[in-house]
Order: sequence, then C-alpha cells, then structure tokens
Amino acid sequence: MDQFLITGGTPIKGEVNISGAKNAALPLLAAMILAESPTTLNNVPTLQDVRTLIKLIEGLGIVIEKQGDTVTCNTKTINSYFAPYDLVKTMRASILVLGPLLARFGEAEVSLPGGCAIGSRPVDQHLKAFEAMGASIVVENGYVKAKAPEGGRLIGCNHTFDMVTVGGTENVLIAATLVKGTMVLENCAKEPEVVDLANMLVAMGAKISGIGTSTMTIEGVESLHGCEYSVVPDRIETGSYLAGALMSAAVFGEGDVTCHRTDEKLLSPVIKKFKEMGANVTTGEDWIRVQMQGRPKAVDIRTTPHPGFPTDMQAQLMAACCLAEGTSTIIENIFENRFMHVPELRRLGAKIKVDGHTAIVKGVEGFKAAPVMATDLRASMSLVMAAAVAEAGGKTLLDRIYHIDRGYEDVENKLRGLGVVIERVKSK
Ligand code: EPZ
Repeated sequence: MDQFLITGGTPIKGEVNISGAKNAALPLLAAMILAESPTTLNNVPTLQDVRTLIKLIEGLGIVIEKQGDTVTCNTKTINSYFAPYDLVKTMRASILVLGPLLARFGEAEVSLPGGCAIGSRPVDQHLKAFEAMGASIVVENGYVKAKAPEGGRLIGCNHTFDMVTVGGTENVLIAATLVKGTMVLENCAKEPEVVDLANMLVAMGAKISGIGTSTMTIEGVESLHGCEYSVVPDRIETGSYLAGALMSAAVFGEGDVTCHRTDEKLLSPVIKKFKEMGANVTTGEDWIRVQMQGRPKAVDIRTTPHPGFPTDMQAQLMAACCLAEGTSTIIENIFENRFMHVPELRRLGAKIKVDGHTAIVKGVEGFKAAPVMATDLRASMSLVMAAAVAEAGGKTLLDRIYHIDRGYEDVENKLRGLGVVIERVKSK
C-alpha cells in the first residue's frame, strides 16, 4: 500500500485548480444509464471511485469510455442488470445504479453496499421509496433484487423520506423521471450535487420542478435522450485546500490559497466559518481566495444537511480548530462514527476530547510530526494538512492513502503547488 511522506515547515501558499465533484460525477454517471441515445459528461475527475463505477457500468454491457475528463456513454448494447459485490463493496455509491436500471428496464440485482469506517450506511430509505413506487424488493444473500410492477414501469406517488439522504434522494429522483404519472418527493436533500443531477436529468428530457428545495415534483416521461453536460466543481475539494491557509497562518503567521474553476456559492456555510475564524475571503466568477495572518479564532461547528455546514468538511475544519486560539466545539450530526481522525490528530499533538457526537478541541501552538493512518477519505486530507504545517523538517508518514486517491484528483501535484513537501512512497 502506498504512503505519503510529508515534511513540515513550509507555509501553505499558492493557487490550485479544482476538479469536478466526485459526489456529483457518481450520480451523473449512474443517470447516464437512463439515456436511449449517447451522452457526454465533461469535467469528470480522474478518481478511483469514478474508475470503479465506470467498470461496473461497463459490466452491464454498456459502452462507456473516459478520455481525459470526458466520459461518453452509449446504452444500446446493455445486456445485464447485475451489479456484483466485488465492485459495490469497494464503492458504496454503486447502489445508485439500482434506480436507473429499475426505472428503465424494470429489473435490477445490485449488491447491498457494505458499511464503511464512518458508519453502517444503510440504504433502507432508497428501498422504501422504490416499494412505494410499486417495485417488489427482495434482499437475500447480500443482494437487492428489485422488480417493477406489472407492465414494467414504476408508478408515481407522494413519498416523504424519513430523514434527509443525499444518495436516497438521487437514486429515487433518477428512477422517478420515468414513472407512470407524477411523483412528489418530500424531505429531499438539497446538496449542490443533487441539484447538478436534477439539472442533467432535465437536459435529458426529464420534467422536474422544485430543484434545490426539499420538495421535488417529477412528471414521468416515456424515455430520456442523451445530452452533453459538465460536472459541477467539487466544493469539498475546494474547502479542503482553503482550510490549509488557516492552518498555515496559525503556525507560520501567514496562509494564502486561491482555488480556481470553483464556485463560492457551493460552499457558503464553509466560507462563513472561515470568516468567523478571522480569515479574509475574496471571491470572483470562478475563484475563491483565503488569506490569513496569525492564529485562527476558535469556533463552534455542527454538521447538518445542506445548506448547513457539510459533514464532509468536518475533519478538515477540526484540523484547523486544533491550531486555533481558544476551544472549539464540533458536533457531528450526520454519521455515527466520523471522528476517526481524532486519535490520529492527537498523535500529532492535538488536544481533543470526544463525548459521543461532540468533540471539544483545545487549540495548541503547533503539530509535531508522527506516523499516522488515514481512516476515511476526508480524514486523510485533514492529516495531510496537519502534517504539512508540522514543525520544520518534521517528517510524517501517512499510511493507507488509498482513501485519499478515491476522492482527491492529482492530490500530490495540487499540494506541491501550494508549497507542501510531499512524496508518495511504497510501504515496506
Ligand atoms: C453522500 O453519502 C456522500 N457520498 C457523502 O460523502 C456525504 O458525507 C453524505 O452524502 C452526506 O452529505 C456521495 O455522494 C457519494 P446520506 P450518502 O444518504 O448518500 C443515513 C465523502 O466523503 N441513511 O445522505 O451515503 C446514513 O446512515 C462521502 O465524499 C439511512 O439511515 O449519505 C447517514 O447517517 C462520505 N438510510 C445519513 O442518513 C438510508 O437509506 C446521511 O446519509 C440512507 C441514509
């Protein structure tokens, strides 16, 4: 397994181009299964998770190809509705192929995604909605076997999710585009990636109103055609690099990061926190710059569904709070186990107490290099940034960086562009 060797001591300053959002690209790729004619998707990031989903879609007999950041897809030759465990277990979002297969072909057999480090990650909300749409769902031997009602089409209905679920909203929204009649979906997720998916479905001929709100009404259509579409910029990648400027300022007195090819409207709750911590944030058409002098101020953070503070930025902001002046409180409301970065940050010298879903972070002057381990995608980035601002010459070996390769495109070069001294080494 690869590791990162990061040498501390250099301020985080520079510019970085942001890639397409992983969490938009995945549902958009799944939605391509609906199209009866070819589809082209641009600004698709080169990530392990994208490769896995493309491989799974290929396994359905679909012709799908990625050249650079463009994916083309032609579903004419589809000959299977089966998504195997060995692929789904490596990438939970594969469950998103269930909706399009069931809606367009009336059947699907998709492995139940396993849990992951941050939680059990059930998909009961997805299945409950499909049953409300008339599907018969049998879960056996770790697979979801789904069949549309007689006649092969799902039936529109009024359905309310029991809790806000991004993947559930996406899976059901995709399926609802082809229902008989009309679907009213309540308590929907409003994340920018859900909006991006709805916009592409409309470009394919879907009839959706209430996009970006918690209630979406979908008038079923007979079929959907292909389109050319571009993935929304990655707001979490953007926030992850910008957080480095605050951490650098805490240790070196200054930090200055500009992200290009992004959109400040996607991460306003994160920008609000940066400003609360004392950062100077300037924005333009497609860029955001965070400049910071001196230690950030401590803040209180609670993660909630959009438009609240995103859970995917919790670990990165915790790392910044570790160096803040004062004591911060961080409450994780979305996942049951998303504090695995805490023991690793402690190894670097952080002072954090955890009580259930609440972390109390007492600011310290700086981090000391030490070998640490990535536990999940976003935690790994918080550790990279912490190691980058550790004491001058301090070398941190970060293990299990396959987590980071899942969700941060070209991560070493982007970090080097911000002054981070990092190299990828093969573990012994
Ligand atoms: C998406 O996961 C993202 N992944 C996650 O990003 C993100 O953290 C999460 O949304 C919340 O914003 C992708 O988009 C690929 P949920 P998802 O369904 O859809 C519970 C990253 O780092 N729940 O909104 O799986 C669930 O257990 C990843 O990029 C049910 O109980 O999240 C969780 O506690 C991590 N039953 C909460 O809801 C269900 O049927 C939110 O989950 C579905 C969800």
